[in-house]
Amino acid sequence: MIYSSMKIETLVNLRPYNTFGIDTIAKAFAILKEKEDLFQLKSLKEQYGEILILGGGSNVLFTDNYNGIVIHNQLSGIEILSEDDQYIHLKVASGIHWHSFVLHTIENNWGGIENLSLIPGTVGAAPMQNIGAYGVEVKSVITNVTAYDIDKEIFVTFDNHSCQFGYRESIFKHIENKGKYFITDVTFRLQKNPANFNTSYGDIQKVINDNNYAITLKNISDTVIQIRKQKLPDPKELGNAGSFFKNPEISNKEAETLIQKYPQMPHYSLANEKTKVPAAWLIEQCGWKGLIVGNTGNHFQQALVIVNYGNATGQEIKQHAQNVQKSVFEKFNIVLQTEVNFIPY
Ligand code: FAD
Ligand code: EPU
Repeated sequence: MIYSSMKIETLVNLRPYNTFGIDTIAKAFAILKEKEDLFQLKSLKEQYGEILILGGGSNVLFTDNYNGIVIHNQLSGIEILSEDDQYIHLKVASGIHWHSFVLHTIENNWGGIENLSLIPGTVGAAPMQNIGAYGVEVKSVITNVTAYDIDKEIFVTFDNHSCQFGYRESIFKHIENKGKYFITDVTFRLQKNPANFNTSYGDIQKVINDNNYAITLKNISDTVIQIRKQKLPDPKELGNAGSFFKNPEISNKEAETLIQKYPQMPHYSLANEKTKVPAAWLIEQCGWKGLIVGNTGNHFQQALVIVNYGNATGQEIKQHAQNVQKSVFEKFNIVLQTEVNFIPY
């Protein structure tokens, strides 16, 4: 018999494992702490029909019970691969809590992910949707992603280019790759003793000026944490998964027409003849901000965040999200795409 530290439980309620706080039952559930246990995943997938890799559950919406096995990732360990005067290369196990890793880099004065402070979830899910905040995307510091191919039972390494990173996108998010790869490690290249920081997004520079903060790694991280705590609901208090939709990118031509009609519409020009429009603004204009609909609704401070007021079901939230999408389409002719991963797919 193969040695395994994994204990398989059946009929497990996943409410503690998703930040939306949805009650949902998984047919089977196991915590994976050791890389050796990856070699069991193929037979577990066959035995239970389907497999879901779950990190912090902060970007998923369970719309039904899960009729397969959930593997909760708790792989741990940080390895220094190499360093020189300028850069350090770190191989970080995917089960590590993202924000703990960010704090670790700040304590060591390694720059690159300070703007990504306080994002919930695990290191392994960071490349999944190329997490981003306050003017930085994680793709800018990832050199490699190592994944275990569950069906082929081999480890595969993706360099930055092969990850096909985009705005809230990567190769791992493609539908055909869901349940195929278990991301085991992410390799980061971070700057030692950084001197240049990105303070251009939103209120960062204003908060720094108002408080007379020196521009240091720690102060930028603290500033981002401060802003985020003011703007976003804490999932421990109110279930949510951050932004429910992506910010839409429309053609410059479509944007011009809309700006004529709505001159106050915030918009940002992109390099590819496109314009990004904040989904939060579109949703707010449709009257959803702060509106409570049954057990759900759009948060009163951030219209892009759909929340669970306590007893919402995944179906209820999904239906609400569809109503929001419909009204934005009717008013602006813009299709909002979901950022959150629906389970089952
Ligand atoms: P999960 O929710 O567990 O999983 C998400 C998806 O990734 C699932 O499809 C899952 O199967 C897959 N997955 C997870 N781990 C692995 C793995 N090891 N291998 C293969 N597949 C895997 N996101 C941002 O980009 N920017 C933000 O500013 C931001 N702010 C947020 C604020 C709040 C309050 C909340 C609740 C969420 C926020 N998010 C943000 C979304 C979320 O935190 C990130 O997407 C995060 O990376 C998800 O990590 P997780 O471990 O919780 O992933
Ligand atoms: N706005 C409104 N109404 C609102 C909130 C915002 O009109 O209720 C407008 C404001 O004009 C503001 C603009 O929307 O200038 C942008 O708002 P904000 O800076 O709060 O960011 P966002 O576009 O709503 C994105 C990310 C967040 C990330 C922040 C900060 C997406 C889908 N979301 O939100 O990521 O933390 O920027 O960089 O890109 C996540 O992905 O889960 C997430 C929280």
